[in-house]
Amino acid sequence: MVNATIIYYSATGTVHALAQAAAEGAEKAGADVRLRKIAETATPEAIQARPEWAKHVENTADMPVAHLDDLAWADVVLFGTPTRFGNPASQLRAFMETTNVLWFQGKLANKVYSGFTASNTPHGGQESTLLALANTFYHWGGVIVPPGYTDPIQFQSGNPYGTSHVVADGPPGEVSLQAARYQARRAVDIAAALEKGNK
Ligand SMILES: Cc1cc2nc3c(=O)[nH]c(=O)nc-3n(C[C@H](O)[C@H](O)[C@H](O)COP(=O)(O)O)c2cc1C
Repeated sequence: MVNATIIYYSATGTVHALAQAAAEGAEKAGADVRLRKIAETATPEAIQARPEWAKHVENTADMPVAHLDDLAWADVVLFGTPTRFGNPASQLRAFMETTNVLWFQGKLANKVYSGFTASNTPHGGQESTLLALANTFYHWGGVIVPPGYTDPIQFQSGNPYGTSHVVADGPPGEVSLQAARYQARRAVDIAAALEKGNK
C-alpha cells in the first residue's frame, strides 16, 4: 500500500477542486490518501474583503490542516498552489520552510513529488510556479514525477509540468479534473513500482 498526501493551499477554491480530484485519482490507484489544506495566514480583514475567499474559508473549515507528520507518513506527496506572481503562494512556502528537521533527518528523501497549480491567465506563470515548487523537491532528494504527455488527457490539458487550470476559463472542468486525477494516479503507480523494486 502506497501512502499519498495531497497538500494544497487555495484562497478561492480552484486549487481545492484540483486537490480533491488528485485525491480521487490517488485513491483509485490504490493509495491510502490524506488530503490536507495549508493553514490560512492572511488577516481576517484581507479575507473578508473578498467574498469568494471568505466563502471558501468557511466551506473548508472542516478540512484537516497539513502537519509535518503528513509529509513523513507519505510515499507520495502532491503539492497544489495558486500562482502568485509566478511563484507558489507564501502560505505553502511558509509550510515548506518548517520542514528543515525532517529534511536534515533524511525523512523527505526518496519520496515521489509532483505539483499542480492555477492562475488567472494562460501565460500567468503556471510553469514557473511548478518549477519553483520542484526546486524544493530537489533539495529534499525527491523523485520528481511530472505528468509529461504520458496520457491522452495531457494533450487536452496541455501542461507536462503538472496539472494547471486557467481561472479565467471558469471553475475546473472535466479536463483539468481528469488531468489532476491522472497526475496523482501516475505518481502513485511510480511510487508503487519503486517500493516493489526496493524489496
Ligand atoms: C497576490 C496574487 C498574485 C497573483 N499572481 C498571479 C500571476 O502571476 N498570474 C496569474 O495568472 N494569476 C495570478 N493571480 C491569480 C491567482 O493565481 C488565482 O486567483 C488563483 O489561481 C486561484 O486559485 P484559488 O481559487 O485556489 O485560490 C494572483 C493572485 C493573487 C492574490
